[in-house]
Amino acid sequence: MYKTLIDRLIKENNLTAAEYLMLIENRDEIRDYAAKKACELRNKIYGKKVFIRGLIELSSYCRNNCYYCGIRALNKNAERYRLTKEEILSCADEGYRLGFRTFVMQGGEDGYYTDELLSEIIREIKRRYPDTAVTLSLGERSYESYRALKEAGADRYLLRHETANKEHYAKLHPKEMSFENRQECLRQLKSLGYQTGAGFMVGSPYQTNEDLARELIYLRETQPEMVGIGPFIPHKDTPFADFEGGTAEMTVFLLSLIRLTLPRVLLPATTALGTIDPMGREKGIMAGANVLMPNLSPVSVRKKYELYDNKICTGEEAAQCIGCLSERVKNAGCEIVKDKGDFKNEIRR
Ligand code: 5AD
Ligand code: FES
Repeated sequence: MYKTLIDRLIKENNLTAAEYLMLIENRDEIRDYAAKKACELRNKIYGKKVFIRGLIELSSYCRNNCYYCGIRALNKNAERYRLTKEEILSCADEGYRLGFRTFVMQGGEDGYYTDELLSEIIREIKRRYPDTAVTLSLGERSYESYRALKEAGADRYLLRHETANKEHYAKLHPKEMSFENRQECLRQLKSLGYQTGAGFMVGSPYQTNEDLARELIYLRETQPEMVGIGPFIPHKDTPFADFEGGTAEMTVFLLSLIRLTLPRVLLPATTALGTIDPMGREKGIMAGANVLMPNLSPVSVRKKYELYDNKICTGEEAAQCIGCLSERVKNAGCEIVKDKGDFKNEIRR
């Protein structure tokens, strides 16, 4: 019964929300089959490859107050830092040496990083390393800003939509933040030619299984090139400190459903997943993920970019991440590649 649904998902990709919901609610019975099919599909399109993205966490300053996030403006206990242009470039130098061919500049919404400053940094990375991709993950900005940064050479942009349900969005964010503007930003990014990443947290407060089913419909309708999902993990200094976190088991199953719904998607096994389960990233890859985003930020600031509690790879072990990850990926039946890892468009005839 559930196998038939998975087979129809692969062949016709026309499941209803009710059918996705049925899979989600009965995932114990179908997770292994879904994972096997998801890996087959991934391998057919990309090979048994895992792409690595070097994450540079620019700034822990943020103007926003998302209820779930540890670097929200109102968190007085958050330690704030911002990286200078020189520091960012030396992260990229180190990353390139280690084999990274994509750099992700991520940060809170921090006015310090003007279009001019970011453009200079992007241009300099591209000048030094023309064979790399630059991804930005800097939240909501104006169309003009997105356009200027694209012009400067940025290739991709990650902006999780956080939830496809407007009422749910309002429970996760203060009224200053709008569901519509988030959606509008994603449309603008796509129209400017960015490879665009959407995504959401699994098990965020007030999320239902119906919401999760609708996330899959949303992804099918909007066709992002990248999808970032990870479990919600409570942060002690936020309004959501006392909520339960999401589970690895649900996150991993959703990774399979996302791969089956968007076969070509670039899909990370996230650090949040590795944080709640020591085998989380391996499980993610074995369920159909094909991206890892290890941290390239200077070790001195890593603990300060704390979106959630107990984040891994922020201490002494940080220097060994690449070796550690190669081993993990091998155990998951894949291999890390030194490659930009662009989205593979369907070859049109
Ligand atoms: N737990 C898990 N993920 C979180 N994010 C922010 N706070 C948390 C948290 N407490 C995610 C959001 C954001 C991305 C950068 O990190 O989805 O878009
Ligand atoms: Fe950082 Fe394993 S990935 S120590």
